Amino acid sequence: MFKSYCKEKALLIDQCLDKFVPADNSAVSVILESMRYSLFAGGKRLRPILLMAAADAVGGKGERFLNVACGLEMIHTYSLIHDDLPAMDNDDYRRGKPTNHKVYGDGLAILAGDALLTAAFETMLKQEDVEAKNLLKVIREISFAAGPYGMVGGQAIDLASEGKTIDMDTVKFMHQAKTGALFKAAIRAGAILANASKDQVELLSTFADNFGLAFQITDDILDVIGSQDKIGKPVGSDIRNHKATYVTLYSLDEAHNMAQQAVDNAVKALEPFGSEAVILREMVNYLITRDS
Ligand code: IPE
Ligand code: IPE
Ligand code: MG
Ligand code: MG
Ligand code: MG
Repeated sequence: MFKSYCKEKALLIDQCLDKFVPADNSAVSVILESMRYSLFAGGKRLRPILLMAAADAVGGKGERFLNVACGLEMIHTYSLIHDDLPAMDNDDYRRGKPTNHKVYGDGLAILAGDALLTAAFETMLKQEDVEAKNLLKVIREISFAAGPYGMVGGQAIDLASEGKTIDMDTVKFMHQAKTGALFKAAIRAGAILANASKDQVELLSTFADNFGLAFQITDDILDVIGSQDKIGKPVGSDIRNHKATYVTLYSLDEAHNMAQQAVDNAVKALEPFGSEAVILREMVNYLITRDS
């Protein structure tokens, strides 16, 4: 069920991304090519899929909100291109291919990120078939989640903490900001666009907080014990960059237990939901067992 759902939605997502970031022969074809290189390098599409699954969970039809979902994937892809730059994590592989700057150079990689971020908002604003009030609310939340109090803020803490020992509350906050915020915005957006009740949005927010935390703890673990073939990016990047992560702060076992605790909390938050939440439930399962 989960696998076929992801496959089906990923196809729609790819079509939509192709429409909003088309290949062409115009004067700006190089920047479009660089954006498309990273967009179609083989990402898991988790954020747009989560948006749709959250809408389904409250009785909506998630694929109706394809534009907003794709906007999230564009923002996420931009964050990865910039994260890999020499001035940040300086990584050579992403999604199983050489990183954007390795192929197009630092300048174009920076611009591809900038262009994806702006194109994301244009794409989301072109979402049809939703109440304007709901659309404005979710775009406002997504802006907040991508900015200095969310993803970018978390990335800034990540850079500032290189080579330092930071306390566990700061590491948790950093994870929730750099990774959790976009997941949370995706899940809340799906629920809000599908006209969820206030209580449902609250429960799904708790689900999202725990999902995002467990996801980044697992990312930290895979940076140590994963295989490059499967994760599509270098193993040991965090150690090379002297990063503060759950694995530098705790043992692998402890980090694993903390991810499991977050997963349990996520599952609990879904209890009041019916069978419509099946995909969200299966995604939690995947979260703790994933190797890519
Ligand atoms: C990787 O995210 C970056 C983090 C926030 C940990 P994903 O693991 O979702 O990466 P893709 O989109 O599948 O490449
Ligand atoms: C970065 O975390 C999360 C982003 C906001 C891009 P990481 O630096 O650990 O992500 P990976 O491991 O390179 O995907
Ligand atoms: Mg990083
Ligand atoms: Mg990185
Ligand atoms: Mg990582």
